[in-house]
Amino acid sequence: METYITKSREQTQAVACAYAKTLQPYDVVLLDGEMGAGKTVFAKGVAQGLGIEEEVTSPTYAYMNDYDGRLFHYDCYRIECPEQAESLGLADYFDMGGICLIEWSQNIAPLLPAKVKRVTITKIDEQTRKIEIDG
Ligand SMILES: Nc1ncnc2c1ncn2[C@@H]1O[C@H](COP(=O)(O)OP(=O)(O)OP(=O)(O)O)[C@@H](O)[C@H]1O
Ligand SMILES: [Mg+2]
Repeated sequence: METYITKSREQTQAVACAYAKTLQPYDVVLLDGEMGAGKTVFAKGVAQGLGIEEEVTSPTYAYMNDYDGRLFHYDCYRIECPEQAESLGLADYFDMGGICLIEWSQNIAPLLPAKVKRVTITKIDEQTRKIEIDG
């Protein structure tokens, strides 16, 4: 487990950008942390590290945004039950060879693969975040 303390969104993006270089196709990364912790900021940094130029925005409405089949960014906050996630086909993207980043993965827990990586972001104060990277 690696731990980082960041003092700005730019620093969080830089940590994520470096982390992206360690990721492999098919990796599923659970992005944990409370609302406003910085999960989407972290996802932007991962996309940058992967060389994705399209702007990463929060997929709250669409549940999942597909960036070239290379990055699948989920926000499962509004998923009400695993059956809904299943009928939306959200699990299909785990096997497509991209990297999956999942916010609010607890809402689709039964669908997740056995082997996942985890990034946990904790709000320390308005500008300070603790980022714990496991895998
Ligand atoms: N050190 C920091 N790292 C990341 N974000 C920070 C930091 N300091 C302040 N922020 C701010 O915190 C907010 C993080 O928002 P973000 O949308 O990434 O949160 P989130 O975890 O995705 O929330 P949600 O669960 O609502 O999707 C941004 O407004 C960002 O500017
Ligand atoms: Mg978010």
